[in-house]
Amino acid sequence: MIKKGIILAGGHGTRMSPLTKAVNKQLLPIYDKPLIYYPLSVLMLAGIKNVLIIVNKGQLNQFNKILGNGQRFGIKITYLEQNYPRGLPDAFILGEQFIKKENVALILGDNFFYGQSLTNKLKKCIKLKSGCTIFLHPVKKPELYGVATIGKKNKVNSIIEKPKNPKSNLAITGLYFFDNKVIEFAKSLKPSNRKELEIVEILNKYNKKNKLNAELLGRGGAWLDTGSIDDFYNTSSFVSSLENRQGLKIACLEEIALNYKWINKKNVKDAINFYGNCIYSNYLRDLI
Ligand code: DAU
Repeated sequence: MIKKGIILAGGHGTRMSPLTKAVNKQLLPIYDKPLIYYPLSVLMLAGIKNVLIIVNKGQLNQFNKILGNGQRFGIKITYLEQNYPRGLPDAFILGEQFIKKENVALILGDNFFYGQSLTNKLKKCIKLKSGCTIFLHPVKKPELYGVATIGKKNKVNSIIEKPKNPKSNLAITGLYFFDNKVIEFAKSLKPSNRKELEIVEILNKYNKKNKLNAELLGRGGAWLDTGSIDDFYNTSSFVSSLENRQGLKIACLEEIALNYKWINKKNVKDAINFYGNCIYSNYLRDLI
């Protein structure tokens, strides 16, 4: 059972400058809440209560101010600073003391997931005993992502990072579930041509040992990567459309925690005091 999760929330943020000159990208708004709420909600929906957030050097206070130690959501949040964006596998090198001997989930801080069957799939994934599970999703421009080709029973045949001529439209999303070997694999990597440690190299190591499972997040689900300003705008519109139509919020962390009985009504009242007079608080008030 995977009980620990890492959110990688650092990065250069250069594509979003000047918005990211003073504020970390993951704290910018997707409609009515900071981006980081969405990947955190995915880990919480999976049932993960012990979360490490890796942030840029000097930006720890910004995250602490909004998420604190996780008590508001009935979970434990700890933070680590990354001096320089050395690549996604750095999460497992920096996070070794956090992971210890256990298995671990990783979600990228700028990834947004939504869909009917998502929670069930997540609950299945945290049962992982050995190997690695990735999520694939069809996209129009696969060349922007890691791309996988699959065969019978979702067997992964190939994985390539940002291929010029993609052989499939299946992007590898920024949500991964690993056994403890991931630490050793991460440590063995050398920087690629773009001078980063590459997550796809870790996935290939698992695949070589026949230990890579792929889950398909089909067209009934949504995976949006909020890498650019247009992505922020489009994802915000998506959230706004759904929330205003249904009257239900996406990634309301206190709601998830309340449903899972990790917090009680008194905790929700404390959260309302924390947020102050705002629409988010009104929503929390309606919950209780
Ligand atoms: O979003 C899915 C894609 O994420 C995958 O399909 C690719 O295989 C994977 O390499 C990754 O590609 P990106 O080029 O989109 O990753 P990016 O450098 O934009 O980083 C993603 C997030 O992780 C972003 O929020 C910043 C954070 N990050 C990134 C690096 C390299 C860190 O916190 N530290 C880092 O060292």
